[in-house]
Amino acid sequence: MKKPVVVGCGNMGSAIIEALLQQGVYDAQTFTIVEKQQNPYIDKLATQKAVVLDEIDKLPSNLELVILAVKPQDSASVMKQVGSKVSADTLVISIMAGISIAEIDSLIPGVQIIRCMPNTPCSIQQGMIVYCGNSRVSEDSFELAQQVLSATGRAFQVTDEIMIDAATAISGSGPAYVFFLAEALKEGATRLGFNAEQSEMLATQTLLGSAMLLNQSPNSPEELRRKVTSPGGTTEAALKTFAEQQVKEKLIQGFKASYDRSLELGGKKFTP
Ligand SMILES: NC(=O)c1ccc[n+]([C@@H]2O[C@H](COP(=O)([O-])OP(=O)(O)OC[C@H]3O[C@@H](n4cnc5c(N)ncnc54)[C@H](OP(=O)(O)O)[C@@H]3O)[C@@H](O)[C@H]2O)c1
Repeated sequence: MKKPVVVGCGNMGSAIIEALLQQGVYDAQTFTIVEKQQNPYIDKLATQKAVVLDEIDKLPSNLELVILAVKPQDSASVMKQVGSKVSADTLVISIMAGISIAEIDSLIPGVQIIRCMPNTPCSIQQGMIVYCGNSRVSEDSFELAQQVLSATGRAFQVTDEIMIDAATAISGSGPAYVFFLAEALKEGATRLGFNAEQSEMLATQTLLGSAMLLNQSPNSPEELRRKVTSPGGTTEAALKTFAEQQVKEKLIQGFKASYDRSLELGGKKFTP
């Protein structure tokens, strides 16, 4: 299996490494980590015999697998430096938001490239990653990417890179939409007389229980919703208000605004 080098071991880089260790995909000593900042997690990996470097220049050449997990603003200088350490066999997996396959290819030419869109639940191995590769990615490399990325939750491949923008709007930004619903539940609970602690518990446990039920049940979200909704009952009263206010349509418009912004940041045109 290709030996992994992780460039940038902040929030996402460390989440991916930890997921790979916990899922037994790699041992700590197989990792090389390049990170400018010292942190306790990296110190722990170093005690487990991972190689820790503070500069890309110190990496050997002919890297096998490089996971790029630095902030987009650092991407250009990092990719230029990584470009001198690769061969045609190198697989580069980028989790950097908004950096296209073409941009990566221009700075790290001739390699296999996989661009992905993760989300924050990757930090607890409940993430969603959507990824797309360039034409050089071999079948074996796609298999490896699936294994590596699904260690952080669930992952699937798309063939058209524009679907990375679509995934950004749904799963990438999605946790914020769910936290927004949690805020609304919490505020609603407080207005109905619960104290802050009770409101927080009501919101969190309702979301957690419903998400787990949705995941475990063979039923669709619509079917599960209908099961809670008796005619003329309390749930129906709330759902009727949502329908009158077109809440679902407004949310979908919000997702589309996120998609348009993702296209705009990537220098692409809006869809009509
Ligand atoms: N967090 C999310 O939910 C999420 C979701 C989707 C995608 N992403 C993507 O994930 C990437 C990483 O995000 P993050 O939140 O993990 O960032 P982060 O916590 O800032 O981690 C990046 C780390 O890389 C280090 N670094 C920068 N340049 C370096 C270099 N030349 N050599 C070695 N280390 C270097 C940074 O050090 P300094 O601080 O000193 O610069 C920082 O410690 C971003 O591109 C982001 O778009 C994140």
